[in-house]
Amino acid sequence: MRILSIETSCDDTGIAILEVKGGEKNPTFKVLAEGISSQIKIHAPYGGVFPALAKREHIKNLPILLEKVLKKAKIRPLRPTGTSPSKGQEKIDIDIIAVTYGPGLEPALWTGIVFAKELSKKWDVPLLPVNHMEGHILSVFGKNSGSFKMPKIEFPILSLLVSGGHTELVLAKDWMKYKTIGETVDDAVGEAFDKVARMMGLPYPGGPEISRLAEKSRKHPLPTSPLANGEELKLPRPMMYTKNYDFSFSGLKTAVLYLIRDLQKEHPDKLQFVGMKEAIACEFEDAVVDVLTHKTLKAIKEHKVKTIVVGGGVSANKRLKKILTQKIKAENPKIKVLFPGKKLSMDNAVMIALVGYFRRNKAKKTGFDKIKAVGGLSL
Ligand code: KG4
Ligand code: ZN
Repeated sequence: MRILSIETSCDDTGIAILEVKGGEKNPTFKVLAEGISSQIKIHAPYGGVFPALAKREHIKNLPILLEKVLKKAKIRPLRPTGTSPSKGQEKIDIDIIAVTYGPGLEPALWTGIVFAKELSKKWDVPLLPVNHMEGHILSVFGKNSGSFKMPKIEFPILSLLVSGGHTELVLAKDWMKYKTIGETVDDAVGEAFDKVARMMGLPYPGGPEISRLAEKSRKHPLPTSPLANGEELKLPRPMMYTKNYDFSFSGLKTAVLYLIRDLQKEHPDKLQFVGMKEAIACEFEDAVVDVLTHKTLKAIKEHKVKTIVVGGGVSANKRLKKILTQKIKAENPKIKVLFPGKKLSMDNAVMIALVGYFRRNKAKKTGFDKIKAVGGLSL
């Protein structure tokens, strides 16, 4: 079967076509085509994603990307004999259209949904609304090109989902049976990376920038404390030891703001001193990684987790990958730790097509009016 998937939840327009062969027990997935159109450059001057602009760009990108992807996959819609061009009917070798309907920015989500509905009607192909976060979970099993199979997975799976809009721990005792056991009470972790980067005058998206500076600082740390009182530069680890699995990153972000303000009181240009931004970035990244790792390890123990999945944009963070994997393996080497490949850690349509396959029985040619963008959709 062939699945065409559409992703427009934030600032990336994505379309993919996956072919799935073999039986239900051991399917082989082949990426026939995958296209992504990033809007980073357009949103960068605003320091974050600007919803109205994202909507405009998705509307512009979707038809262009569709054409490219169909061409790459060598799929051509044909008009059945005897039908009228005015009715716009076409036949196509696609079995399901999967589209993200939430969570995300509603104006952005709607563009993908409207586009998918139109295609579905025109081609007479069933449509399936997909949860973006389920996509991030399944992203660890995919590739953005070539063929792949599902690895053997043992349950329970614990997913640490970390992106610009989400920070949550989701437990799954079986495929598609999710329970969110903890989430952020304020800012998402990616959002904190972006805001801290902005405070330091670094470009959007902030995660990769902070990470790059932090790495520099680990290689060449400041020889002495950057603080006037000589104390160690230390940021808080909010909610690290609370009993639940919730997170908070707003206080950490504010602590960085106060730190920068205090440094600038000592000297207006102190943030520009050699190694200063690097030292702050490093301590910030360590604080984030400490909290995420601590809570994940706690949940692994309590729920006797066998597989860990880390998904979402922040899963591209090398420090998180290194420390989390090391600590999990030190406690229990049998636990499988899965991160997506770099391209699938970002928003993409391959992960939406994977969800499409698992939920293929729910795809329908009717009831389109019920498919609406749900910005705050949960798992
Ligand atoms: O999943 P994603 O592409 O979009 C959302 O659904 O939000 O995540 C984007 C977020 C941004 O906040 C970005 O700064 C962060 O992921 N990010 C990183 C890294 N790469 C991207 N954060 C930390 N370290 C990275 N290497
Ligand atoms: Zn995402």
